Amino acid sequence: MDYEKFYASRVSIMRPSDIRELLKWSLDKSVISFAGGLPDPKLLPKSFELEGCFEYLMAKNEYAFQYGETEGVGELKKEVVRFSKKYGNIDANENQVIITTGSQQALDIISRLFIDKGDYVIVELPTYLAALQVFNLSEPRYVGIQMDEKGMRTDILEDKLRELKSNGILPKFVYTVPTCQNPSGTSMSIDRRKHLLELASKYDFLIVEDDPYGYITFGDEKVERIKAMDKEGRVIYLSTFSKIFSPGLRVGWVIASEELIRSIAIAKQGMDLSTSPVSQYIALFAMEKGIIEKRIPIIVGEYKKKRDVMLQSLESYMPSETRWTKPIGGMFIFVWLKDMLDTKLMLEKAIKNYKVSYVPGRSFFIDGSGRNTMRLNFSYPSEEQIREGIRRLSNLIKEEYGSTS
Ligand SMILES: Cc1ncc(COP(=O)(O)O)c(C=O)c1O
Repeated sequence: MDYEKFYASRVSIMRPSDIRELLKWSLDKSVISFAGGLPDPKLLPKSFELEGCFEYLMAKNEYAFQYGETEGVGELKKEVVRFSKKYGNIDANENQVIITTGSQQALDIISRLFIDKGDYVIVELPTYLAALQVFNLSEPRYVGIQMDEKGMRTDILEDKLRELKSNGILPKFVYTVPTCQNPSGTSMSIDRRKHLLELASKYDFLIVEDDPYGYITFGDEKVERIKAMDKEGRVIYLSTFSKIFSPGLRVGWVIASEELIRSIAIAKQGMDLSTSPVSQYIALFAMEKGIIEKRIPIIVGEYKKKRDVMLQSLESYMPSETRWTKPIGGMFIFVWLKDMLDTKLMLEKAIKNYKVSYVPGRSFFIDGSGRNTMRLNFSYPSEEQIREGIRRLSNLIKEEYGSTS
């Protein structure tokens, strides 16, 4: 059967994600995978934590197993408001919250709501691949902004905005993952967060603050959410239970102005009517019982150990002329090799000969740069696998350096 003629033209824009393809490799037990973005399987919910959850769901039977409101379960929205204030310093009321089917759905909704073909959207270099996948379907024009160890270079952003404005162009929004970014692991400094907000006000655009990792930072210093400083309702804030409880639930949330929440709800209605009420009630159970607040420090402790092991291993094994980020939390470290290397071309050898995998960085860059970069995940592999995997990867890189010098 030739299905091609049936497909809509937008299907030609859909690309399988390199990461999804690569995830298959983590099934081969002899390959140490730094490729996925999965939480540590040992930190998924335990049966003792969920004891009583089934009875709880049955007691809420007529809500949990019924169709739900598009905006989400009211009690869960209340919990999100409390949690966001306590851990994110974000002031919001329940009408400024909508529960989504993971943050990924929120990104899809944002793409549909705000991007007309040819609109300008500003992203970081590199940026979250699955955000690009959904934005691409609306066919925007991207402007990429370089990052350094303090996150997005807002000075470069300002130059770009001035240039765009002189051509009569206003971007719709800036998409940023300001804390422990996927893929780079970098966090934006407070000064740049403030600068970004000032620019949004001056050049009249929205900010999409995607924050799945802000609740798993390793130090004592609090990371100020851009949303917490937003006085004009310009920030659309996204977060999720995926990294602090379970990605299998598929429950995330958006905090934005009431007006925007209403538009988001209308878009969401046509997509899935509502996020699974069963999943929402499981999240509510975990919030009400304090399960999530108890497990956050445990996740932080485990991931911090793993980050340290990965940093130490990189330090011990990697050849010179290789550099990497030092994340303050999250799940990823980003590595730069010598300029002339192409990590995509190296991947097959990495998997077949060295039994280690990673994500080649190129697809995270909308400008085609980043050929010599790779993303390493430290949350999924064990400490032992991290040590051994980095040793193997370093041997591959040394071999590649040898053949290029
Ligand atoms: C930056 C970023 N945004 C969104 C998501 C999607 O999260 P969710 O599981 O809530 O859909 C992820 C998941 O890895 C992510 O890294």
